[in-house]
Amino acid sequence: MKKPQANTKPPYFNIDPDTALKSLGAPSTTAGFGSIARACEAGRNDLASRGLEENGRRHLRQFSTWEITRYLIPVATGHFRRVLKANPDLPQGRSDTATGAKWFTLDEVLRLRAHFGQEGSKAKEYLPYRPAGQPAKLVAVANFKGGVGKTSTAAHLAMSAALDGYKVLVIDLDSQGSMTSIFGGRIADEWQTVFPLLAQHYARYQQNENQRRLDRGEPPQPLDDTLSAALDIKAGSLIQKTHWPNIDLIGAQLNLYWAEFQIPVWRMQGRGWKLWDALSETLAADGILDRYDVIFLDTPPALGYLTINGLAAADILLVPLGASFLEFDSTGRFFDMLHATFGSIEEAENMAARALGRSGLHFEWDAVRAVITRYDGAQQAELAALMQAYLGQTLALHRQDFTALIGQAGEQVQGIYEADYRDFNRETYVRGRETFDATYAAFKELLVGAWRRDVLAAQEAAE
Ligand SMILES: Nc1ncnc2c1ncn2[C@@H]1O[C@H](COP(=O)(O)OP(=O)(O)O)[C@@H](O)[C@H]1O
Ligand SMILES: [Mg+2]
Repeated sequence: MKKPQANTKPPYFNIDPDTALKSLGAPSTTAGFGSIARACEAGRNDLASRGLEENGRRHLRQFSTWEITRYLIPVATGHFRRVLKANPDLPQGRSDTATGAKWFTLDEVLRLRAHFGQEGSKAKEYLPYRPAGQPAKLVAVANFKGGVGKTSTAAHLAMSAALDGYKVLVIDLDSQGSMTSIFGGRIADEWQTVFPLLAQHYARYQQNENQRRLDRGEPPQPLDDTLSAALDIKAGSLIQKTHWPNIDLIGAQLNLYWAEFQIPVWRMQGRGWKLWDALSETLAADGILDRYDVIFLDTPPALGYLTINGLAAADILLVPLGASFLEFDSTGRFFDMLHATFGSIEEAENMAARALGRSGLHFEWDAVRAVITRYDGAQQAELAALMQAYLGQTLALHRQDFTALIGQAGEQVQGIYEADYRDFNRETYVRGRETFDATYAAFKELLVGAWRRDVLAAQEAAE
């Protein structure tokens, strides 16, 4: 190691107060934030005009025969080619050269999958397990610590589920909108986010309360403009298409943060409003749970009202964390807060329920799993093993490796599944992809198991 030169002093010694004052500038005011924001806006527009806009229209790449037969449809390459030849109506793919590899859009891959599912061997799983008549499973990815891999995990799971043939909805509950930019969403204001669904749920509560007031001969409380407008919104109208044919999006943008201030105000006015049911009940009422197979909720790095709503709606809860002392420590406190938060909701509800002789409230999840992300086996094996020893089954066995394939382009998390393997060293690609495929496999096992449990319970109830 290079030693610092003996005569250089640390830079924080001997700072002259008068020199410091000169370079300080005038005190800052609120208006100062305005001019900083305008400077950022001007710079951003400049960048956008040079084609650097992050949200430019997105296109999904195409998929080669190699990738399809290796990762997507369980069929041998030779057989795949023979089936295409024998069925000229099926998508035939395109290639740059006469003898080169054939490439297909995901739409075409989905059509091919459907064909194999219909015509192919019943012994093979061409279509993923999805019991008929069961609603979509909701999956929340949460941790109040930022940077632990929530958005990356949720986005990659959504993409792998889509490649696997499921119909996916992604709901962004984080007002920073990272998930929304990954899927190319354009959101004008809070009325294109889940906000109106939450407002609508409260408005319906108020309508019921007003009916009771009228019955008691009391004057009703008028609904304000926001609540009246929210009553007209259907969840389906908030859903946007993405560049993935079988992934749709309800996006987020900064104004969604307003919900964190508005929800407690509504709750003060309407003590009996079950705010935690708002998201799941509005989605169910508008039939959204029947239109999709899996719904992923990306949550902000906080245990605020939006996260509580997402967690209460979820069937499966995934909590990503790195194998570091700090992340293990803060994740422990996150679970402690979940315990306190949901515990106090249950307690208050159950007190009221007991008084009325009704059955109480018990939140239940099909599965709750902590997931190690960004794992570096060379450095973190010992800590991960210790975490495993303490958490047991709660910690998913698969550790999602750190990979150079994602997180390179700064903010713009380009999914592994969106990257063209020809841009990478094949070895790096296969390893990066394997670790996310394994993350998906571990998740899919929870999903399939949870659906199976529901099917058996429904059969038992029918007997
Ligand atoms: N498996 C991984 N390998 C390498 N980088 C990762 C991995 N998972 C996440 N990252 C990077 O870590 C950072 C934080 O991830 P992100 O998903 O945005 O976390 P969160 O949503 O919890 O704030 C991002 O820069 C992302 O690209
Ligand atoms: Mg995030």
